[in-house]
Amino acid sequence: MPDIAVYNGEFTTLDQAKAPVNDRAFVFGDGIYEVVKVLHGKFFGLELHLDRLYRSAEGIELALPWDRTAIAALLKEIYVRSGYRSALVYMQLSRGVHPRQHYFPPENTVPAVAAWATEFAGSPPALHAEGVSAVTVPDERWAKCWIKSLNLLPNCMARNVARRAGAYEAILVDRDGLVNECSASNVFAVMNGVVRTAPRSRNILRGISRHVAIECALAAGIPLGEQAFSVPEMLAADEVFLTSTSPDVLGIVRVDGVKIGAGKPGPVTMRLLKLFRHYQQTGEYQHG
Ligand code: PDD
Repeated sequence: MPDIAVYNGEFTTLDQAKAPVNDRAFVFGDGIYEVVKVLHGKFFGLELHLDRLYRSAEGIELALPWDRTAIAALLKEIYVRSGYRSALVYMQLSRGVHPRQHYFPPENTVPAVAAWATEFAGSPPALHAEGVSAVTVPDERWAKCWIKSLNLLPNCMARNVARRAGAYEAILVDRDGLVNECSASNVFAVMNGVVRTAPRSRNILRGISRHVAIECALAAGIPLGEQAFSVPEMLAADEVFLTSTSPDVLGIVRVDGVKIGAGKPGPVTMRLLKLFRHYQQTGEYQHG
């Protein structure tokens, strides 16, 4: 079954989808995006994704001529047309199609919308059981990482450093040696029973999974602090894990070749994964 895409209202198979080269997404990466998960017909965190989409749009001064209902309807339509039961729906909104000029095109230029859905088979249980490795990479992105911008070149380059090293993720470290997040996920460390993650700031994307994991911990009474940590603190932590839309909560068991804790996903990580999945299935946080 071919994947289905839409570009400015035209539905095609993904491999047939075409966009004009003057789309500012193509020329400048001038746009924003979201990746939304649908599990057995149910969109996960849709309202949170829509909140972030509008926040990102505002962050790049992109006025969206569509309300949340219209955006949600398009996400749903691409999902339904895909025929998949569980899917990842990608949507990007650019500043539209206009001859190349750096300053913004006229205000009546309509944003260009591209979206497609791919099948989501779920992340393999073995991945969660064994955990993954990561490497640290200097965070060389811009100063507005809270915007889910299409400009992902530094993220791609960092991720490729990880890939070359045989690692799953790149952990991005600021100039002061503090851990921000990963190339496409947020990162947490468990130290003396306290779960820590970088606070909300312009240096990180406010991941939907980060938000849900934090709410899960708070509801269950797991001590948590949105407090930055350094690379040495992370290497000495009992557990490290990441959060993102496709794996939810995933243990990191090796960083820069150094074994974290016992070298396998720890009890807090596994508990949070369970709590996360419970919330995902029921919409209820489990209180502990
Ligand atoms: N990436 N941080 C960055 C830099 C990200 O790109 C992502 C997600 C996250 C996690 O956000 P969420 O929990 O909402 O998925 C954190 C998506 C999945 C991507 O680029 O494909």
